[in-house]
Amino acid sequence: MASEKRLEGKAAFVTGGASGIGAETARVFGEHGASVTVTDIDDAGGEAVAKEIVGAGGMAAYRHLDTSRETEWEKAVAEAVARYGRLDVLVNAAGISGRMPDDPTSPRVDDLTLETWERVMSVNATGVFLGAKHAVAPMRDAGGGSIVNVVSIYGMVGSDSNASYHASKGAVRSLTRAAAIQYAPYKIRVNGVYPGFIDTGMTKEVHAHPLHGGVRLEATPLAEFGQPRDIALGCLYLASDDARFVTGSELVIDGGVTAAALKTSLPREDA
Ligand SMILES: NC(=O)c1ccc[n+]([C@@H]2O[C@H](COP(=O)([O-])OP(=O)(O)OC[C@H]3O[C@@H](n4cnc5c(N)ncnc54)[C@H](O)[C@@H]3O)[C@@H](O)[C@H]2O)c1
Repeated sequence: MASEKRLEGKAAFVTGGASGIGAETARVFGEHGASVTVTDIDDAGGEAVAKEIVGAGGMAAYRHLDTSRETEWEKAVAEAVARYGRLDVLVNAAGISGRMPDDPTSPRVDDLTLETWERVMSVNATGVFLGAKHAVAPMRDAGGGSIVNVVSIYGMVGSDSNASYHASKGAVRSLTRAAAIQYAPYKIRVNGVYPGFIDTGMTKEVHAHPLHGGVRLEATPLAEFGQPRDIALGCLYLASDDARFVTGSELVIDGGVTAAALKTSLPREDA
């Protein structure tokens, strides 16, 4: 347990809470005294995380939520507010890479099917929009709140990786700023966390790949992959009252990748 609890009395809602960054954020929030609604489409994983938080003395409950479906958002937020009496924090961590399993850099624009584009956009961009849309009313009722969008450095720079992933994260970057302006009058802060290369289920294969993992490592001045906790602690700051004057901001946690300019371009046979 943390010695100083920074989210005492707050009710938090985390998407993608079954794995990686979302799971660790839910755990850290639990350690810091928040009541946490853990959501995901992976019910077994999400239940396990909620159980872990409760086992460690925190407060948490799991609920199924596919973030691309508006009716599920309506029900999940209403249930969370009914359970904990309020909503103070939303972390939008759910996401997919849309990567083709046999090629860690795919698909490039001319290989990208409309189906993949729409699937990636529906989770990574539409899902975040729907979360903000449905969190605003209960946050206004609570007198304010904090929405933290887990974006990506791939929303800031280009690479050989999935173009729809880049586009979806770019959309969230812009949505974050617009929402920050629109809800500042209600003391609802909206910020983005920008992870670099973090070891999670999403990146397991790429980071283990000698070429693709090596390129990412080489592009990281701190010379290691980040861990989910590195990102969760950024979410904790933005969720807490320590960040009371922070909105529309971009917290980059990438081991220096973007400061050094990204070097992930691979040689192409057809260029
Ligand atoms: N790992 C990295 O290097 C990295 C870098 C930058 C940004 N991110 C972002 O961080 C976030 C978390 O990713 P992660 O790396 O922890 O990956 P992860 O695969 O470990 O976790 C993603 C979670 O989202 C859930 N999910 C997928 N589709 C969903 C849907 N439709 N509705 C609800 N939940 C859904 C998955 O079941 C999973 O539990 C994502 O938004 C990702 O784009 C990750």
